[in-house]
Amino acid sequence: MKESSVDLYFFSGTGNTLLAARAVAEGLRTGGKSVRLLRLEKGLSAPAGDTALGIAVTTACFSTYPFAWEALEQLPAGDGQSAFALSTMGGFSGGLRSPLRKLLDGKGYRTLGYAEFVMPSNYANKSIPFEENRVKIGKCQEQSRDFARALLEGRAEWRSGGLFSPFFNWLARKKAPWKMMKRSFPLEVDKDRCIQCGKCARLCPAKNIAMEEYPRFLDHCVVCQRCVAFCPPAAIGVRGKKYEQYRAVEYDTLVSDTL
Ligand SMILES: Cc1cc2nc3c(=O)[nH]c(=O)nc-3n(C[C@H](O)[C@H](O)[C@H](O)COP(=O)(O)O)c2cc1C
Repeated sequence: MKESSVDLYFFSGTGNTLLAARAVAEGLRTGGKSVRLLRLEKGLSAPAGDTALGIAVTTACFSTYPFAWEALEQLPAGDGQSAFALSTMGGFSGGLRSPLRKLLDGKGYRTLGYAEFVMPSNYANKSIPFEENRVKIGKCQEQSRDFARALLEGRAEWRSGGLFSPFFNWLARKKAPWKMMKRSFPLEVDKDRCIQCGKCARLCPAKNIAMEEYPRFLDHCVVCQRCVAFCPPAAIGVRGKKYEQYRAVEYDTLVSDTL
């Protein structure tokens, strides 16, 4: 990577991708780069001439969230700056790596490398396997630092996502899979538990929660789990389902300005 600094944009629902992005940033800083971690949901700007671009997103529905794609599509054209990407997933990403490369190539970036890391499942957990999760997180952080080294040394690769990658991504850009997710996970607020703090509405990247006396869910939830994960009294969930609250970082870290 020839640039002296990096703008690494990330989206993380429950903190997994944030941990991976932070580990990559640490690795790059160790190699002498100046790195800014920026929130993808606030929009992307074209990196300055001597700044490389990094993208870190959650794998969702074998691709990533529609609002993340929309933000990426708004990314201004580059001028040959290096670009890399990473994603965290439960087990299978399918349709992210090839379409993301195509988008960045098409915008004039020089795509250096892509990596994906297995992290704990962040939804529909009937119980949280703490020890198993600790091991996965540790491994991901190690792999993230390796990825940073590979980027620094020019060894990183952006392999093809395989024959079905464009299909998975095409599917994820349709409304149907998200409607299905929403139907399987109809989130609602337990008013007896809710402390009316409004954190859920402020955190929702899809702007799907209206804060009235209690939070009210609108109709475009993408089930990213942020509201579920960071609700202080764990008042958000699916009626009749005993899913445990999962988060990889605490609220203060998720919203911190110094990452
Ligand atoms: C709505 C939703 C869809 C998901 N889809 C996939 C998927 O297609 N493949 C996969 O391996 N993991 C999937 N996962 C698991 C997440 O990718 C994984 O737990 C990730 O590390 C969460 O990162 P985050 O905390 O940064 O959002 C999904 C999670 C959610 C909430």
